[in-house]
Amino acid sequence: MPSNSPSAPAHRPLPKAELHLHIEGTLEPGLAFALAERNGVTLPYATEDDLRRAYSFSDLQSFLNLYYALMAVLRTEDDFADLADAYLARAKEQGVRHAEIFFDPQAHTARGVPIGTVVRGLSRALDAAEENHGITTRLIMCFLRDESADSALETFEAARPYLDRITAVGLDSAEVGHPPSKFREVYELARQAGLKCVAHAGEEGPAAYVWEALDLLGVDRIDHGVRCLEDERLVARLVADRVPLTVCPLSNVRLRVVDDLADHPLPAMLDAGLLVTVNSDDPAYFGGYADDNFTAVRDALGLDEETLRTLARNSFLASFLDEETRAAYLKELDTF
Ligand code: ADE
Ligand code: ZN
Repeated sequence: MPSNSPSAPAHRPLPKAELHLHIEGTLEPGLAFALAERNGVTLPYATEDDLRRAYSFSDLQSFLNLYYALMAVLRTEDDFADLADAYLARAKEQGVRHAEIFFDPQAHTARGVPIGTVVRGLSRALDAAEENHGITTRLIMCFLRDESADSALETFEAARPYLDRITAVGLDSAEVGHPPSKFREVYELARQAGLKCVAHAGEEGPAAYVWEALDLLGVDRIDHGVRCLEDERLVARLVADRVPLTVCPLSNVRLRVVDDLADHPLPAMLDAGLLVTVNSDDPAYFGGYADDNFTAVRDALGLDEETLRTLARNSFLASFLDEETRAAYLKELDTF
C-alpha cells in the first residue's frame, strides 16, 4: 500500500500528546485513492487534486458531508490498520509521543462494516505503535450526536466485546441542535463499564452545551470548548476543576469557527488559566498535523517558547496516561 511520505517539520518538534484526532480525518487523498482501487470503490473525483479542491468548507456540516462520503473507501480490517499506521508515521515526525485517537463506529456500521472489523483493524496498528513508531496510544469511541440516543446505546452494546481496547467514549458530528443531554444514558453505561468520558462541546454549539457535558455527562475533558469564553461562570468552573480543553486551531479556521488564526481565542484561554491543549482534529482536511498546529499558533499569535512548552506539558497532563508514563514524558519534555 503506497502511503504518503510523512511531512517532517524543519525544526525538531517538541514532544507532545495528541488528544483530539479523528482517525477518519487522517485519510489523505493518496491513501483514499489507493484504498478505492483496492476495494473497487469509485470516487466522484478524477484525481487527488480534484479531491483536494473540494476541501473548502463554510462550516462544520459542509466538512462532515465530505468526511463521511470519503469513508466509503474504508471497508476491511487492513484498510483501518493502514489508515492508523499512516497516521502514526506522520505523528512521529511531528513529535507526537502519545496519541488518544477517536473513531466513529456508526459511520462504518451504517455502511455495513461491522464494528469488530473497525476495532480489530485500528487495534492492529495501535498495538504495534510503540514498537514501530515509539508512540503510546489509546482509543476513544465516539457517538454521532446527529444520530439517535438509541443508536448510541446500540453502538455501545455492539462494542461491549471490545471494551478492553477502548479507553473512553466521546461525542462528535453536527453539534447545533444535538445537545449532550440527549446522551446521558449511554454515558452512564460507559462510566459504569469503567470508561473515561469526553465530548465535543462549544465548537459551533453554545456554552450551555459545555455545561451539559460537564454536569449531565460528567466528562473528563471537553473537545474544542472555545465558546466557553462567552460565559464567565463557565470559565471559572473549568479553571477550578482543571477540566482540559482540546483546542484545534487550524480546524477552527477551516470550519470558520474563527475568522482568522490571528483572532483565535487560544491566548485568552491561556490567560484565563484554562488547561488548554493544541491538537489537529482532522489533519488531512485542515492542512496540518500536531506540530503544524503548534507552529501555526506560534506564528499567527506570537506565542513564545515557554508558552509552547506549557501547551506541550498540558497535553501530557490532560491525557489518560498512567502516572508513571506521564511522568516519563514530562521529564522528556523538561530535558528537551
Ligand atoms: N468529526 C470529525 N471532526 C469533527 C469536528 N471538528 N467536530 C465535530 N465532529 C467531528
Ligand atoms: Zn473533533
